[in-house]
Amino acid sequence: MKKIFSLLLILFQPLLSSFTLVGEGVRGKVFQHTQEDGKTIAIKTYHNKQELEEKYGVEDLSNVFAEDGTSFKAVHAYNVSQQLDHPAILKIYAIKNKIEANGQVHTCLEMEYVEGKTLLITEPASQSLDQAVKNALTLINALQYGFTQNLIYIDLWPGNIMFDQEDALKLIDIEDFFSLDLFLDDPQANRQNIHREFLQRVIKALVKILACAPLSEENIHALGELLVAVLVPYGDKIDQPVTSDSAALFMTLLDDLHEVISGLNR
Ligand SMILES: Nc1ncnc2c1ncn2[C@@H]1O[C@H](COP(=O)(O)OP(=O)(O)O)[C@@H](O)[C@H]1O
Ligand SMILES: [Mg+2]
Repeated sequence: MKKIFSLLLILFQPLLSSFTLVGEGVRGKVFQHTQEDGKTIAIKTYHNKQELEEKYGVEDLSNVFAEDGTSFKAVHAYNVSQQLDHPAILKIYAIKNKIEANGQVHTCLEMEYVEGKTLLITEPASQSLDQAVKNALTLINALQYGFTQNLIYIDLWPGNIMFDQEDALKLIDIEDFFSLDLFLDDPQANRQNIHREFLQRVIKALVKILACAPLSEENIHALGELLVAVLVPYGDKIDQPVTSDSAALFMTLLDDLHEVISGLNR
């Protein structure tokens, strides 16, 4: 009997293990899945109406779901991803609505799978200085690339940055890219606060990325210089009315960061 069970387990193992839960966020669950063609992908399943009501008690969900239950966030993520083609920005392959046996709809994104972990749980001093500097520069490059597509990444935090098996950086959660126009043309939005908050997030993330390397006294000094080099002129800029195009301003500031970080492991 025991043998039969083992045999059944072996036979059904591929089915059972074909969807492995690899992460969970506020918006849904992420599974690893190996397709029939052997390619491993990630599938992000967004919470549906019923789950959101149960989990967060949100009642008016007309801004969150279309009438057929499609998640607007997932649609936004998919549309934005079509404008982005950068090695450090997660690729989204497809958007699908999965209808459960009970009739509930789940919107899913099929995405590039990152075998690795987020910056949130990466141990300090676990990467080489070369790699950490490379990752800091990669992040700057990805954000600058976003601006060239008129997109700003608004939820930059360690939970949305992953490192693969080679310790290379990948920005996940593509729905956090928004059109710069949408964001900055909002009459309610305070442009200076947006600038300040964005830069604060970038600097926090860069410092955390650089702390992935064992930092010597010399490097820590360079990090201090980085903060001064960037924040001092930035302070001047935000005290003046912002006349320049926002994307150009972000680019200049990212260039400054780029320059200081490039000098870090020389
Ligand atoms: N493409 C991926 N490959 C591997 N793991 C992923 C991928 N995308 C997300 N994850 C894992 O799932 C978690 C939640 O994903 P995320 O997209 O940030 O969800 P949320 O939108 O809810 O914040 C991440 O912290 C990460 O651990
Ligand atoms: Mg996230």
